[in-house]
Amino acid sequence: MTLTIGVDVGGTKVAGGVVDEQGNVLAQVRRDTPADDQAGTRDTIVAVAAELAAAYPSAMAIGIGAAAWIDATGSTVLFAPNLAWHDEPLRDYVAKAVGLPTVLENDANVAAWAEFRFGAARQAEDSMVMITVGTGIGGGVVLNGALWRGANGIAGELGHIQSVPDGHPCGCGRLGCIEQYASGNALVRFARAGAMRDPERGAGLLVLSEGDPHRISGRMVTEAAQEGDEVARDAFAQVGYWLGVALADLAQVFDPQVLVVGGGVVEAGELLLAPTERAYRDQLAQRRRFPVAEIRPAEAGNAAGVVGAADLARRI
Ligand code: BGC
Ligand code: NA
Ligand code: ZN
Repeated sequence: MTLTIGVDVGGTKVAGGVVDEQGNVLAQVRRDTPADDQAGTRDTIVAVAAELAAAYPSAMAIGIGAAAWIDATGSTVLFAPNLAWHDEPLRDYVAKAVGLPTVLENDANVAAWAEFRFGAARQAEDSMVMITVGTGIGGGVVLNGALWRGANGIAGELGHIQSVPDGHPCGCGRLGCIEQYASGNALVRFARAGAMRDPERGAGLLVLSEGDPHRISGRMVTEAAQEGDEVARDAFAQVGYWLGVALADLAQVFDPQVLVVGGGVVEAGELLLAPTERAYRDQLAQRRRFPVAEIRPAEAGNAAGVVGAADLARRI
């Protein structure tokens, strides 16, 4: 049984785990990501991986999934729209510090790989496309049974396809990216604006946020929507709409066997997936007269990043 280590680097947490060949997580470590501190983030990744490597000396490699654009050789963090992180030769640094071969990959690519191997797309023969809906929007594309990294390493940056011409500014430097319309951040922005515009329809949200729309969080939007708050439900409807439109475009481009929607916001279930499915169906060319991929919610859950990164490390 070969064991590998997966490390998932997000904006708030660095999560690591020791993972077996079946995708089971045997041990886990979590640390806070030091905010706006590139060297601190790097050292936290090393500390997490080193702790797991010490506990499981048979672990043979490390996989890192990071919320960032990674170069074509899989060695360097180029840029991160939502983190203060750029031009960091992370792979070799970690490999040297921990003393194990290391692979570096985008966080959503890694989650897509976990879903393809062990999760919602495990029955797909050789193709799937995933969108992750969290703070930002990530994407991953599996074609011919392999992760599609593109010519320059940034294939599958699905958060930065355009939804709205000249729309809301995005952390990537563009205007109107889907990340600004269908992410967790967008959900909160829609809900805040709705509660300010129409306090009566957003009464439930305002109770949760103690009357201050600026304090509305993603969790509050989910809770209020579950209790029927109309502004919160509208916010999910908007996010779902933009997601569905994007998924219809992706079906046209890739014609994958499965489309997966994952990320934290998917915990809201049908609140998000029902409007997504509706928009997908309405927007598809020929409206499903031809066979087309089903949309499935992710199954690998919170551990998807750790499991996917560890599984990629096994393939070094
Ligand atoms: C970044 C991606 C990342 C996604 C989810 C996006 O803003 O461009 O690289 O996968 O956020 O973390
Ligand atoms: Na990606
Ligand atoms: Zn963007």
